[in-house]
Amino acid sequence: MGPRSVKVCGAIAALVSAAAAAQPGAVKPVGVPMRDLVWGKLNFLHTTDTHGWHGGHLQESQYSADWGDYVSFAEHMRARADEEGVDLLLVDTGDRVEGNGLYDASSPKGQYYYDIYKEQQIDIICTGNHELYQASTADEEHQRTVPNFKDSYIASNLDYIDPATGERIPQAQRYRKFQTKNQKLDIMAFGFLFDFTGNANNTVVQPVRQTIQEEWFQEAIREKPDVFVVIGHVGVQMQEFKDIFTAIRTQNWDTPIIFFGGHVHVRDATAYDSRSFAIASGRYFETIGWMSVDGTLEKTDSSSTFTDLSFSRRYIDNNLLGLRHHTGLDATAFPTEHGRNVTAMIAKGRAELDLDYTFGCAPQDYWMTRTPYPDDSSIYTLLEKEILPAVAAGPGREDVPRLVIMNTGAIRFDIFKGAFTRDTTYIVSPFLSVLNYVPDVPYEVANKVLAMLNSGGQIFDAAGAAELKYMAIPEQWAIRESIIYEKSTPRGSDEGRYKQKPLTGGDGDDDSNTEPVLIEGYTTRDDIGNDGDDAVHVNIDFYVVPNCIQAEVGFSGDDEEKPETVDLVFFDFIQPWVLLALRFSGAVYGKDDVKSYVDGTFTELMAGWIKENWPAKC
Ligand SMILES: *[C@@H]1O[C@H](CO)[C@@H](O)[C@H](O)[C@H]1NC(C)=O
Ligand SMILES: *[C@@H]1O[C@H](CO)[C@@H](O)[C@H](O)[C@H]1NC(C)=O
Repeated sequence: MGPRSVKVCGAIAALVSAAAAAQPGAVKPVGVPMRDLVWGKLNFLHTTDTHGWHGGHLQESQYSADWGDYVSFAEHMRARADEEGVDLLLVDTGDRVEGNGLYDASSPKGQYYYDIYKEQQIDIICTGNHELYQASTADEEHQRTVPNFKDSYIASNLDYIDPATGERIPQAQRYRKFQTKNQKLDIMAFGFLFDFTGNANNTVVQPVRQTIQEEWFQEAIREKPDVFVVIGHVGVQMQEFKDIFTAIRTQNWDTPIIFFGGHVHVRDATAYDSRSFAIASGRYFETIGWMSVDGTLEKTDSSSTFTDLSFSRRYIDNNLLGLRHHTGLDATAFPTEHGRNVTAMIAKGRAELDLDYTFGCAPQDYWMTRTPYPDDSSIYTLLEKEILPAVAAGPGREDVPRLVIMNTGAIRFDIFKGAFTRDTTYIVSPFLSVLNYVPDVPYEVANKVLAMLNSGGQIFDAAGAAELKYMAIPEQWAIRESIIYEKSTPRGSDEGRYKQKPLTGGDGDDDSNTEPVLIEGYTTRDDIGNDGDDAVHVNIDFYVVPNCIQAEVGFSGDDEEKPETVDLVFFDFIQPWVLLALRFSGAVYGKDDVKSYVDGTFTELMAGWIKENWPAKC
């Protein structure tokens, strides 16, 4: 995927040039044309769905800055806000854990993460679903992150069950009312989680529709702040945010209401009306979201009104060149003492966890959605043809023909050509998934399951099952064909190929003198326009993949040779859907018919396969 040259638009600021990398070993960022940040009276930096990537992306130049660099960046940006007499607030909207060796590789998990993360000063923070899947993660969140962010942590619809007393208590304060530092703006802030139901039993998520009926919420929205700030682990197009917006707007006809969302791993922004604004800032610490609110505040004892209200947003690619560009500082002036300390903490943690230990050398790139499935460069084809057949060999069942079903959402990231390290194992497969099986299922029945998981939405809905889409990757939940992507002719698959719509207009005059080489990256198109990304990139294709893939193992594809019965092997995460699909196919199996197939998590099995099959050195 080599760089391609395209013409670049006029309003783009200077081209920035090379800089030192963040973590030792991280690839150096490449200079690209930039769009500047627009400052207002009230400014925000936003992270979401960082999933343990606080060491940055060591293999991807455009996202290679680490949490320490973000600490430095925020320090400079706060100083600028102080100088100009405006305000800057930092927001994080959850899913900070699971998805990278820095969090997942220690035992217990998060041994380094909690102390690294808390070094950033965050003004409004809430919980994501990944903080709640495992009871132990929710405990740590309550015992560490909540006190670390005592004043800023908000849990509007989340309770925690104290293991000592069995008592149900708010995970944190329900809302936060405060004044900004420089302009003394009155802020009323809430922190929500979408209507999540997959949490361990030591937390309780209250559906948003119920929460907004609660007395405390109804009182809070009758206060008269200068601005309402709603943060949430909620996609900005999801109903939960729309319901909160409507409730607040009903009581406040012209107060600005701003939303920070996440969960669906996309860059996105929208407005629910002309005096509201919402942004979602991507995933995996690739993106630092920027939002500003400007206008003139007219304030009396009983009212507060912004006139000439305007909003701006930017999706900042998280690399040192970009961060330095936005601060106007050179490589020497940029890192602060505090930021350097945090970078050092991360380097120490990564070294102690031996995250650079190499299992093997990937011979090529394997993509999740940049290529169609099936394809030689699809990670799912690699899994179907090579890895699953080899690792799905249950003790004593090696000779039994089997179908092995994996949900595509079990894979979280691409594999890049080069070293496949301990870190990579958690990046690609962070979950504690194991393989289960139902022995000796009639082949005719077992062979119907995959198609049902991939297309049988309505019958599963009718049976009250969770939506099938949750088996796929979050990026795919968010596809809005008409807005972000155009559907184009599929190649070898009727699942469809989505191409991001090209950037057109909106950026001022074309400047035909500037034709720098662009690299591939985000080319976001949201409800506000197509000028959101700070760095100008060539777009990346996005191909839809099925909910699940299947490997046929131990028998030939020839029709005459189909076995009578097979072992139906599957990832434990999809068990409820698999059992339902079997029932729809005419064979009733219950939980008691399901057995553990092979020891070890899938992550461990995959690492073992790579060690055996890929060359040790690159
Ligand atoms: C949660 O489930 C575990 C295991 O089933 C059980 O031991 C525990 O008592 C339950 N806790 C609560 C708060 O219900
Ligand atoms: C950075 O680390 C040094 C050495 O541990 C410590 O003395 C100093 O106070 C730290 N500075 C900041 C700003 O955290």
